[in-house]
Amino acid sequence: MSREGQPAFSAPVNVEDVERIAAARLPRAALDYYRSGAGEEYTLRNNREAFRRLRIRPRVLRDVSIRDLSTVALGKRVAVPFGIAPTAMHCMAHPDGEVASARAAEKIGAVFILSTLSTRSLEEVAEAAPKATKWFQLYIYKNRNITEDLVRRAERLGYKALVLTVDAPLFGIRWADARNKFHLPPHLKLANFTGPAEADGVRERTTKGSQLQAYVTDLFDQTLTWDALTWLKSITKLPIILKGILTKEDVEEAINHNVAGVMVSNHGARQVDGFPATIEALPEIVKAVCGRCEVFMDGGVTQGTDVFKALALGAKMVFIGRPVLWGLAYDGEEGAKTVLEIIRHEFDFTLALTGCSSIAGIEKEMVVPASFYSLL
Ligand code: FNR
Ligand code: LAC
Repeated sequence: MSREGQPAFSAPVNVEDVERIAAARLPRAALDYYRSGAGEEYTLRNNREAFRRLRIRPRVLRDVSIRDLSTVALGKRVAVPFGIAPTAMHCMAHPDGEVASARAAEKIGAVFILSTLSTRSLEEVAEAAPKATKWFQLYIYKNRNITEDLVRRAERLGYKALVLTVDAPLFGIRWADARNKFHLPPHLKLANFTGPAEADGVRERTTKGSQLQAYVTDLFDQTLTWDALTWLKSITKLPIILKGILTKEDVEEAINHNVAGVMVSNHGARQVDGFPATIEALPEIVKAVCGRCEVFMDGGVTQGTDVFKALALGAKMVFIGRPVLWGLAYDGEEGAKTVLEIIRHEFDFTLALTGCSSIAGIEKEMVVPASFYSLL
């Protein structure tokens, strides 16, 4: 036993090891909330399995002695082509919460996206990780003053982009959360709000199921249309990334509204079971965008080879959700950093072993579906 009453684990060598340790440590309701997908979780499994249906075609004899992992996103150089996806309520995983995950991102040089539903505030995170490249994820509340206040604070505190999540007028049906009547533990608040309805609303609601789902249903604006984007652009100059795009039809709308980027995402398979895996949807989006804005993706990334595959298929950068939560539960800031280091190490080795000394060296032809090899 390494800690009182807890099984001993050897130091993690991959993200699955970290997940195993986190699963043993987290309280049941928090683990279920973090882990769950919608419905029977077919899409959740597919987000990961779809990566395994791709093959990497390596090149050899291409001097890989010096490797550069950096890329440029929204006009700014970043040290690695992956970042931390916005996930709610990090303080359930570790008391330092989003402060710890943002610091881990800062140390690695990874982009950090803070969720609207964070348990540490925009201000606390900005102060704790002043040098990190930070973006802010936005949910639009029925009360637009609340949203406008979040935007103003993000601007003032040096967040460099707004990530507008457009796939969640409601939250998906997550069976474990419904069974657990998921709610925030009493010592935690949604830290970006002072109004009690917004700050404490994921608790003690009169609902039979998930308190979070009831919160969202009450407070988020389900009437949103593309006009919301026009409104948002009228109140801020920050670049806007639309998160939750899965079709070429929506790409056209997004481009017509001059977005800086789109994030191919199925919200970690938490909305509708049956959506495509995000790596499956990525080529359609990359083709439709045709260089007119940046394309990011998230969902199911747990290894450096996954990052390589997404980049070869045209993503500028990928984002990591649950693995960072497992890292936090494992060892706070150090644990989140461990997860990012593991993925960086694996990505670096993938580059070297496929004959690439930089991201520019990753060629489209290097990643093919498994069926490519069943022609003979
Ligand atoms: C999320 N996600 C999410 N997205 C968002 O825009 N705002 C949010 O507050 C949250 N919260 C959240 C909580 C938890 C526990 C999870 C697992 C996910 C979705 C997230 O940004 C991202 O799309 C997925 O998590 C990516 O998939 P992986 O990396 O978790 O497989
Ligand atoms: C979720 C949120 C908060 O998926 O987006 O639980």
